[in-house]
Amino acid sequence: MPGATTLPASELSSLFGAYLQAVCRRSAQALASCGYRALLVHSGSLLPVFEDDRTYPFEANAPFKVWTPLAEPDCFVYFQPDQIPVLVFNQPTNYWHKPPAPPEGYWTAYFDIRTCPDRESARAVLPPDLGTTAYLGEAFAELGSWGTAAKNPARLIRHLDFGRAVKSPYELACLREASRLGARGHLAAQRAFAAGESEFGIELAFLAACGLREQELPYNPIIALNESASVLHYQVLEKHAPAARHSLLIDAGAEFAGYASDITRTYSAGDGDFSALIARMHAMQHALCEGVRPGADWREVHLRAHRLTAQVLQEAEILTCSADEALAAGVTSVFLPHGIGHLLGLEVHDAGGFMRSPEGGDIPRPEGHPYLRLTRTLEEGFVVTMEPGIYFIDSLLQAAQADKRARLINWSRVKTLRKFGGIRIEDDLAVTATGCENLTREAFRAELSPT
Ligand code: GLY
Ligand code: MN
Ligand code: MN
Repeated sequence: MPGATTLPASELSSLFGAYLQAVCRRSAQALASCGYRALLVHSGSLLPVFEDDRTYPFEANAPFKVWTPLAEPDCFVYFQPDQIPVLVFNQPTNYWHKPPAPPEGYWTAYFDIRTCPDRESARAVLPPDLGTTAYLGEAFAELGSWGTAAKNPARLIRHLDFGRAVKSPYELACLREASRLGARGHLAAQRAFAAGESEFGIELAFLAACGLREQELPYNPIIALNESASVLHYQVLEKHAPAARHSLLIDAGAEFAGYASDITRTYSAGDGDFSALIARMHAMQHALCEGVRPGADWREVHLRAHRLTAQVLQEAEILTCSADEALAAGVTSVFLPHGIGHLLGLEVHDAGGFMRSPEGGDIPRPEGHPYLRLTRTLEEGFVVTMEPGIYFIDSLLQAAQADKRARLINWSRVKTLRKFGGIRIEDDLAVTATGCENLTREAFRAELSPT
């Protein structure tokens, strides 16, 4: 269920109504193109821990989250075009756990809600014949006897996912809320870093400020002190603060009604030289954000990021050659080995980043850029991250030192900067008719000077 919000429920409710109508239209078209008459979407089941009676934290499947912010296991949405969607709400009764409360809130009026005590009994409240219904979700034991037409048909999933890239006003409102919560967490994390907390202590400050449990976040926070910032998806969360503090890289986002924010900031503990490099990265990130508008080819945005990275490396005296020479020799990929950004929405790396059309065909990544997650041309309503970075990653530096790139890099400068790990600056951008709205910077502004 959504957490605290600054939006009035009545506004969210009318936004949700319009959004759900669009989802119904999109789903009806997708079903018709793929030869099905109805859709059955599962929220997912609890996953038991081997040889125990505990389960892993539950996470609802994204195709279910498209329909409802309800994050409970073994619920279903059944949709037949021109009919009100059915929500099968699973409300188990056992004395070990507190049963989930009946759904309430701004979105419930749009569903025909049917309550069941377990997954098996959901079948009885669904139409008797599911022979033209496509099912989306993991297979579960009794699904085979339900008589659905198909399980996870790839063509249908593709049609549905393609449409998810353009966000509606409701989704943008949720993404703004997720950004606001994320910014609140980041400001608390920055204070915890200044107070000398460990990585774990910084995470606790982030969680408390967001008002979310770790399992309610869109991804595990990446909180790296010093050279650990060179590990792109660093996961350790050291419990003890290091003896010397040089830098913090925090990549952490929050979630609202299933929608994610994905925010990274890097701070220097005081070193002026590293602070100056962080400032250059903010300026470069700003320049990249300025280029985000409808019609921008994301592959070009990514390649421009490499050109700008070469300039920053050159200005920061990390190169012994010109920016152009470094770019041509592939030196920028040593320092920036990930994609410049990705689609953002119900999933932190949202679906459909490579799709040429709903019917088929993928847009390939530029050669030599294997980790880019988005190759589409931007349209109004897309929400993307912009996340340039410069890192001092031992394995990549060693590989560069062993080949012809070695003479292009200023190794004594690299040695000086290594203890800071790296820098990433990441904002979330909503593409507008003429440019983009920076959800992250707006959220920080609002948190710093609430009206
Ligand atoms: N937080 C993961 C990413 O930035 O893509
Ligand atoms: Mn990201
Ligand atoms: Mn991130």
